Amino acid sequence: MSLENLEHIKKEAQQCKSCPLYATRNNIVFSDGSPNAKILLIGEAPGADEDKLGKPFVGRAGKLLNEFLIKAGLERQKDLYIANTLKCRPPENRKPQKEEKAACEKFLHAQIKTINPKVIVLCGATAMESFLDKKLKISKVRGQIFENVEGYEGIKFIPILHPSYLLRQHSLDEGSPRDLTLKDLIMIKKTALD
Ligand code: URA
Repeated sequence: MSLENLEHIKKEAQQCKSCPLYATRNNIVFSDGSPNAKILLIGEAPGADEDKLGKPFVGRAGKLLNEFLIKAGLERQKDLYIANTLKCRPPENRKPQKEEKAACEKFLHAQIKTINPKVIVLCGATAMESFLDKKLKISKVRGQIFENVEGYEGIKFIPILHPSYLLRQHSLDEGSPRDLTLKDLIMIKKTALD
């Protein structure tokens, strides 16, 4: 991990005009957490709160994510490095477009290579589609470990459900989305930190 390298990538992202989103964002959302983390969590894209504060997962979904991390025994600022597939907010919180993801992936790729995590948590379908077979369904493969992802050999990829989805799922029953997500995060902690 090289802090200078991360600062350099961030500066490049701040100057990036490879897609139209730079014109409507307030701040780029580059990362949060520790550059020494063994777990790199990748979300979708910044929302309004993230765009305002320049940090990922600081809105409602982020607060729920924090609750899950605490319950799983993970420290957000120490155990995780957090980024998104896009550094700039898509207007109206729409899903990232293929061209926007393609324009932005160089920054995420450089972050991954610099951090060199043991585990990459793909948070939600958008992040999963950036790395795994697009035909996979997150509801079927969440909690599974994918290895030998082209270009990222040696890193374990684990999809989990996105906290924005969990905001609409309140049950804590065994096998419910919230229950499964907590179990996935506990497994991720074991896989990355034990
Ligand atoms: N949702 C995401 O996927 N990323 C964020 O940073 C915030 C909400």
